[in-house]
Order: sequence, then C-alpha cells, then structure tokens
Amino acid sequence: MCRKRRKIRKNVKLLENQTSIFGVGLRREHYQYLTEKPITDIDWFEVISENYMNTEGRPMSVLESIRKDYPIACHGVGMSLGSSDQIDPNYLKELKRLIERLEPFLISDHLAWNHLNGTRLHELIPVPYHEESLEVIANHIDYVQNELQRQIAVENISAYFNYATSTMNEGEFLSLLTQKTGCSILLDINNIYVNAKNFQFNPLDFIKTIPKKSIAQVHLAGFTDMGTYLFDTHAEPVHQEVWNLFETSLELIPENVPIMIEWDENVPEFHKLEAELNKARKIMHKGTKNETRKTTEFIP
Ligand SMILES: [Fe+2]
Repeated sequence: MCRKRRKIRKNVKLLENQTSIFGVGLRREHYQYLTEKPITDIDWFEVISENYMNTEGRPMSVLESIRKDYPIACHGVGMSLGSSDQIDPNYLKELKRLIERLEPFLISDHLAWNHLNGTRLHELIPVPYHEESLEVIANHIDYVQNELQRQIAVENISAYFNYATSTMNEGEFLSLLTQKTGCSILLDINNIYVNAKNFQFNPLDFIKTIPKKSIAQVHLAGFTDMGTYLFDTHAEPVHQEVWNLFETSLELIPENVPIMIEWDENVPEFHKLEAELNKARKIMHKGTKNETRKTTEFIP
C-alpha cells in the first residue's frame, strides 16, 4: 500500500558558518587526541549513527564532549532503505533518540539494503533501479522523514554487480527519489569514480544527472586498486583521479556544500587527516577563483 506523502519541512540545520564546510569522520583512533581539545582544521564531524545508538560509556561521552565544540552529521549504515521489508521501527526510535541528543545538522544513509526478515548483513547491497523499487524506496523514505520530521540525505553507493532488471542508472534513480520524496542527496565522489571504472561509464555524466540543488553533502575517500577492479575500502588517501573528478565537478555541486573525508581502515594520525582535508579546501578555493573551469570533460 502506498503511504500518504506529507510535506516534510526541509529542516536540515545548516552549519552556522556557511564557509565552515570541511569535515571528517569521527573514528575511535582519534578519541584520545580529541579529548585533549586540540585546535584543529576541522569544521565538523560525521559520526556513524549505529556506533552511538543505544550506547553509553566512553564513545558517547567523547562524542558529547566533541559535540560541544563542533557541529555533527549523523551518517547511518543500517536503515536499509532498499529492503522489501518495512523500515525497522525500533531502529528509527533509537535513531530519533540519538538525533534529539546530538541535534545533527544532517542525517543520511545509503541507497542500499542490508536487512531482511530480521537478519542484518554488514554490507551495503545495491538495489535494482526500476519503477517498482523506486516506489518501495520512496515509501520507505517518506516513512522515515515523517517519523523523524526531518529531511534525510541518501548516498550513492559503490557496487560490484548490476541487476539485469534495472531500467535506469543509479543517478537517474536518485534524481527521481528526490523528486518523489523531497530527500536530499549525499554525493560520494569516490563511489562514483569506483563504479565508473568498474562498470565503464563517464563519472561526470552521473554527476550531471543529479539535480544540483538536491546535493546536501559530499564524501571523498580512498579506494584500493585490486588489479582487475577498484575496491571502495576507505583505507588510503583520496586518489588523484578522485581529486580531479572533484575539481572538475565543482560547478555541478552547490557552493558551500559540506564536504568530508571518510577514512575507516588503516586510520592515520589526525594531522594527516587534516592535511587531506586541506587538499579539498585548496581545490575549492582554486575553483571559486577559476571562472573558466569547464565541466564538460573529464580525463581520468
Ligand atoms: Fe561515502
């Protein structure tokens, strides 16, 4: 049955300072360093929602201490928007509690599924891109946004197989989702690059498909070259090809959109993460000065 679509207030809380847009993922490897309250180059942190849902103890106390000094975005991996199952109401209740506690400026999850018949998987599995799945996922997003009374952002994923039943690509599917539900999009530039190489398409064509005004956040991360394919590991610095794609795409993403570096494996010392983020700053700065920048070509 189709859920009634109520109009969701677009109450994504904007970052207080519109030029303070550069963030990183908060990882436990940096808890000790950050609790010493160092001066950092970071404007905001993104946290994995599930790591702090229904938990107390040190991770939450560190996070609450960091929250006093920095805006936070809540990024989920367990909402399973792409399941044929209903969204788990208990999951949403816990997420809601976390949101009330942290007051994040953005809430996001993935265009993927990992929950079926009560079983939770640890991967983000792609969905087929066709009208039927569009209706199911749009209903799930309506449900989540109505329950949270917040707009959510949906992220494009890295995938290693396609469905023969798909009638459109992921970018077209995400664009239709924003039209149907009013959700925003978390654009992961690394995921686009990885998929473009693995499935042989032009990554810029993907980004051009996404309505600029719907992009609420950008992810940058490092992949691992496995020889015959690229693997989205978040275990390395952002590769030059992804920086190039980011730079070439600047006209296609909103000015001052929050941008962050994801680094989940082989997590480096904090200052290396800051240095990586400062590369993004430099590219943005250069981009705003360079009015002749073209977005019609992308040369990997
Ligand atoms: Fe991402």
